[in-house]
Amino acid sequence: MELAPRLTHITPSLTLSIDSKAKALRAEGVAVCNFAAGEPDFETPEHIKTAAQKALHENLTKYTPSAGILELRQAIAHKFKKENGLDYLATDIIVSCGAKQSCFNAIMACVSEGDEVIIPSPYWLSYPEMVRLAGAEPVIVPTTAANNWKMTAEDFEGAMSPRTKMVIINSPGNPTGSVYTKEELRAIAEVAAEEEILILSDEIYEHLVYDETKHVSIASVTPEAHDLTITVNGFSKAYAMTGWRLGYLGAPKKIAQAIDSIQSHSTSNPCTFAQYGALAALTESQQCVTDMRDEFNIRREYMFNRLGTIHRISATKPLGAFYILADISKFGMTSMNFADRLLSKTNVAVIPGIAFGNDHVIRLSYAAGMDIIKEGLDRLENFCRTL
Ligand SMILES: Cc1ncc(COP(=O)(O)O)c(C=O)c1O
Repeated sequence: MELAPRLTHITPSLTLSIDSKAKALRAEGVAVCNFAAGEPDFETPEHIKTAAQKALHENLTKYTPSAGILELRQAIAHKFKKENGLDYLATDIIVSCGAKQSCFNAIMACVSEGDEVIIPSPYWLSYPEMVRLAGAEPVIVPTTAANNWKMTAEDFEGAMSPRTKMVIINSPGNPTGSVYTKEELRAIAEVAAEEEILILSDEIYEHLVYDETKHVSIASVTPEAHDLTITVNGFSKAYAMTGWRLGYLGAPKKIAQAIDSIQSHSTSNPCTFAQYGALAALTESQQCVTDMRDEFNIRREYMFNRLGTIHRISATKPLGAFYILADISKFGMTSMNFADRLLSKTNVAVIPGIAFGNDHVIRLSYAAGMDIIKEGLDRLENFCRTL
C-alpha cells in the first residue's frame, strides 16, 4: 500500500516524541528531569475551568459556526485592538483547534506547489513540515546567536526568489526565545510589501516576554503589513491551556474566508464548551498570566545563570517564551548524540537542535518546577564534565 506522495518528506514531531519518552520514563518511576516540555507546567486557572464547566452544564455541547462562537470572535477582535493595535472585524477571525491548526490552515489557504516559504532557523519544527504538506518548499534562513537568533531584512531579501509566497515570523520565538523589535519588524515588512509576500506571524508566546521587552505584532507596523499578514495566537501558552486545543487567527477578509472554508470541511468548530472557557480567559482578570510570567522569569534567570557556569556550554539570554538555546558545539558531537547520551546517562531530557534546523545547540525548556531545574542542571553539569 502506497501512501500519498505528499508524505514522502514528512517526519513526526521530535519534540512531542522526546517529551512523551520522558513522561513514560517518569511514569515508570524514573526520576526524570524533563527540559523537553513545550507546555506550561501550571494548571489552567480556576475561573477558566469554571466557565467551561458552566457551559457544559448549560448544555452548550452542540456545533457552533465553524469559525467559533461570535462572542469569542468579538472578544478576540477587542484583544487584537487593545493589546496589538490591530483592526480585525470579528468576522475576519477564525478560532481553531490550537495555534498549530491556525498555522496549518493559513499555509493551506495561501501556498501551493511551486511556491517557496521563507523560514528563519532555528524554527518551530512544524513550519517546514506544514509547508511541505501544502506541496510548497521551505527556504531556511539560518540565524546566529550573535544576532540573537533573528533574521534581518537583508537576510530575508537575500533568500527571496520569484517563487517566494510567504515568510514566517515567530516572535517571541520557539526555540530561540528571541523577540523582534518594532524597527526589525518594520524593515522585514517593508521588504515583504515590495514583492507582496504574505507574512504568517505566529505570536503564541506574546505574553511571555521579560525585562523591558515589548511584544509587537508585525501587522501593526504599516498598513501594507496589515494587509499581508495572518496573525496567529492562542490560549495554550499564556493561559496554560495546551490540552484545550484552542487557537485563533486574524487575517485579511479573503484569506479569513478561505480558512473558514477549509476548517468547515476538516475539523469544523473547536470544542464548544472549551470556547466558553477561552472567552473567560480573554475577558476576565489577566492576573494569572502575569503570575505565570513572573514565575517563568525567575526560572529563566536561574537557568541562564547556571548554564553560564557550565564548562564549554554557552547560551543566549532569551527575552521571551520559556526556552533557552545552549550551544554544545565545543563537545564535538551531534545534538542528537548529546541529547541521547544525556537522557540515557542522567535522565535529563532536552531537545536536540537538529529538530529546529541547527545541530550545534540543544533546547532546554524552563516549563518545569525550580527543584527539577536545579537538579537537572546539576546533572547536566556533571555530564559535561565527563565528556
Ligand atoms: C511557535 C509555536 N506555535 C504554535 C504552537 C502550537 O500551539 P497550540 O497548542 O495552540 O496549537 C506551538 C506549540 O508548541 C509553538 O511553539
